[in-house]
Amino acid sequence: MTTPLTLSTVSALRDQVNHWKSQNLRVGLVPTMGALHHGHLSLVKTILKDVDRVVVSIFVNPTQFGPNEDFESYPRTLDTDSAALQTVGAHAIYAPTAREMYPEGFATTVHVAGLTEDLCGATRPGHFDGVATVVSKLLNQCQPDVAIFGEKDYQQLQVIKRFVRDLDMPPRIIGGAIIRDDDGLAASSRNTYLSAEERIKALALPRTLTDLAKRARDGEDVSSLEKQGYKQLLDAGFLAVEYITFCDAETLESPAQQGRPLRLLAAARIGTTRLIDNISV
Ligand code: PAJ
Repeated sequence: MTTPLTLSTVSALRDQVNHWKSQNLRVGLVPTMGALHHGHLSLVKTILKDVDRVVVSIFVNPTQFGPNEDFESYPRTLDTDSAALQTVGAHAIYAPTAREMYPEGFATTVHVAGLTEDLCGATRPGHFDGVATVVSKLLNQCQPDVAIFGEKDYQQLQVIKRFVRDLDMPPRIIGGAIIRDDDGLAASSRNTYLSAEERIKALALPRTLTDLAKRARDGEDVSSLEKQGYKQLLDAGFLAVEYITFCDAETLESPAQQGRPLRLLAAARIGTTRLIDNISV
């Protein structure tokens, strides 16, 4: 497969996408922050079933990191990312500079009320505003037919679906299944921060989610399961559990109505690394 084109400006991206559209080719967008792993690559493979050309954006978005988060140390690996994208047949990489994305005088924020307040929003104030704003821009810059986001960041996926619907944005948004490493840990660019010992302890996260989801399906009380989940994660060596919560799979509200699909979501810290994961119930 050929090396993906690298584009770094909005106008170069638009020219390329317009060229493809003029040939009646359908275009897909896979937004990422780089440091690509098999979870990201699976999104490219999935969207390629739907479109003819795929753009992968790589932009470590400063506005979605909190002041004490890992923006500076976030891994930046453009050369290996480009090689990995070639193996799965991506056609272009869009890697704008921060100045291209946020020119002098930039003043607009996309805020989704409600959905962004709990779960990760509770401990990462402003995070989803940063995500919603940059993803709005990426969708407007690229104007794809379809864009794909992983279920790994389940709350993010719901937030994106909501503002795309609320703002009548044309692209169709699809979700990609969570890709796990062989040991069961959800693939994440941040897994590289884990020591060997922490990585073993971290496996309690997917195991606990699998266990609790099964027991919820078997009819056990969800609030009692949540309490047991906290304890299981702390006993396994997590330093802090931010949340382990059953939610309505679409609104992310507390499960109120019988018969609505549920999702179990968790965030917990091991050493200095924050991990998130979730599972369908
Ligand atoms: P990033 O963390 O790089 O993730 C890019 C995309 O890959 C997201 O849609 C994320 O959900 C998906 N992804 C990550 N790990 C995955 C896994 N194990 N299985 C399936 N999908 C996975 O999420 C972001 O970047 C940013 O917030 C972004 C949307 C690009 C906006 O800046």
